[in-house]
Amino acid sequence: MAKIQKVGVLGAGTMGNGIAQVFAQAGTPVSVVDTFPGALEKAKATIEKSVRKVAEKAGKSPDEEARAVLGRIAFGAETGAFEGCDLVVEAIVEDLPAKVAAFRAIDAVAPAGAILASNTSSISITRIAAATKRPASVVGMHFMNPVPVMKLVEIIRGQLTSDETAAAVVEASKAVGKIPVEASDFPGFVSNRVLMPMINEAIFCLHEGVAKAEAIDEVMKLGMNHPIGPLALADLIGNDVCLAILEVLQRDLGDDKYRPCPLLRRMVAAGLLGRKTGRGFFDYAKR
Ligand code: 3HC
Repeated sequence: MAKIQKVGVLGAGTMGNGIAQVFAQAGTPVSVVDTFPGALEKAKATIEKSVRKVAEKAGKSPDEEARAVLGRIAFGAETGAFEGCDLVVEAIVEDLPAKVAAFRAIDAVAPAGAILASNTSSISITRIAAATKRPASVVGMHFMNPVPVMKLVEIIRGQLTSDETAAAVVEASKAVGKIPVEASDFPGFVSNRVLMPMINEAIFCLHEGVAKAEAIDEVMKLGMNHPIGPLALADLIGNDVCLAILEVLQRDLGDDKYRPCPLLRRMVAAGLLGRKTGRGFFDYAKR
């Protein structure tokens, strides 16, 4: 497969922004599409802030780097922008019907040879691929948050994903400075099957009064050398995203050991989603 020349990203949320940024930083033109009002303006500002941080660290001019990287990203609200893309990465809400609709729309406009990737955290790539007329070219590219910093891309093959497709996204991940690791198409793959039970158990500890939120996170930071505690990590990922992933794990693996803590459900219902809403297990407005 020839080198990826142009990338499309559907969804300008936290993950979509980061994915667009890393491809554009590596010199690839990117089209970001989102229909949510205001999402694109917010995306531009988030990407600019992050590019500036990366440039400062690399000893480059933040102004020049921000101009160059943003100059490679086209923002729009129509999936027609994916017409010239060799790779389209979907990074929308963690919901199967929404992803099926998104892949039908992308499949209708992307060139015949293009690869369609999903950044899903837990949903079956095989089921997503079945919504398209090109299941051999559909694959999981699961980036980690914050995308500009984290090295891993989990690569997931669906039942019908071709070797050529998997090899192409492995190469594309390396080309943007990431380290690809392959996993099979099981609910939550490796990353979230291991991570989410830990986060859920931390929430149960808070729910049952085992310790306060700060103490739970301190234990995991000081005792296990985690960079941030599990409750702060849930706030970074988004408590709604954590809940959606746990529901997929419980339902699709058929095991109640993945049942989401009632406190997590209550927090999501109350809109305490974490950093993105200013409050979750911790209060970000005050920080
Ligand atoms: N863009 C660019 N640079 C960034 C950044 C961003 N968005 N966020 C942080 N950085 C940089 C900072 O500039 C800083 O650089 P420096 O060390 O040169 O000063 C460095 O990263 C560290 O940042 P901070 O000092 O602000 O804060 P921390 O030391 O706490 O590091 C962190 C931030 C890298 C996010 C660290 O807390 C961490 O590794 N946390 C765990 C992250 C993690 O586990 N992610 C995976 C989540 S699971 C997932 O995404 C899967 C999904 O499906 C749920």
